[in-house]
Amino acid sequence: MADVLKDKIAIVTGGAKGLGAGIAAELDSEGAHVVVTDVDGEGAAKTAAGLARGESAVCDVRDDAAVAALVADVVGRHGKLDIMVANAGIGTVTPLADMTIDAWRQVLAVNLDGVFSSVRHAARAMAASGGGSIITMASITAFAGSPLIGHYAAAKAAVVSLTKTAAIEFRGHGVRVNAICPGFIGTDLVTDRAPEFEQQLGVDDFTAVISQAQGRMGEVRDVTPLAAFLASDRSRFSNGSAFVVDGGMSASLV
Ligand SMILES: NC(=O)c1ccc[n+]([C@@H]2O[C@H](COP(=O)([O-])OP(=O)(O)OC[C@H]3O[C@@H](n4cnc5c(N)ncnc54)[C@H](O)[C@@H]3O)[C@@H](O)[C@H]2O)c1
Repeated sequence: MADVLKDKIAIVTGGAKGLGAGIAAELDSEGAHVVVTDVDGEGAAKTAAGLARGESAVCDVRDDAAVAALVADVVGRHGKLDIMVANAGIGTVTPLADMTIDAWRQVLAVNLDGVFSSVRHAARAMAASGGGSIITMASITAFAGSPLIGHYAAAKAAVVSLTKTAAIEFRGHGVRVNAICPGFIGTDLVTDRAPEFEQQLGVDDFTAVISQAQGRMGEVRDVTPLAAFLASDRSRFSNGSAFVVDGGMSASLV
């Protein structure tokens, strides 16, 4: 694909690093103008500086009014919004028995409430200007019990549900909404938590455990082409779907 996103205006949340930064670069390489947003403004600016047409903004997706203002600002300056990638997410490692209600709410606030705000405000703006494509970042943890990350997995399952509802409610307005469900990708979200997983699971090497199940640890570039495809009109008949990218992990029971 080349230039399949020419003249498209995109917002990527959580774009300072990891999958968000990779997706911003992929959309940029396909011709989109990408607004990289993050609670980490410095990181977002750094990602944007590496793009051909990038710009950045600080946006905490937990703040519904801030997400609304971000979308309004982008539409005001560019005349439309074509692509929203609701990617921002966090995680902690705790068994349910030890999980405080605060820990639960902190993860849900970013990983579910933040996606709700990003989807809702983007979809309304897109509906008003002829349509667009929204991509939510879910996870294969949406589909199975996920020990030690129960809050994270519950949020991701809800994101898949939200994705489907939004797809149907906005279908008549030319807005498509699809979820990407990666397996374990070697970003800070996973590698920073590896020692906690190792301690809780009683294993020496969390990457080895994941590699056993996935074939290898996933890379950001394993996921980013799917985001570009879903953002483009080439995926025009895909709507309300959850696309798994996990090296086959969820295909196997053993
Ligand atoms: N890495 C994986 O294995 C994996 C697998 C499945 C799904 N995901 C999902 O992909 C998305 C990106 O994950 P990643 O691995 O790149 O993580 P990451 O930790 O590398 O990056 C996450 C980014 O989100 C930003 N962020 C956190 N809270 C925010 C907030 N309130 N508002 C705005 N930005 C915020 C962070 O500053 C950071 O830049 C997340 O939704 C994550 O759940 C990751």
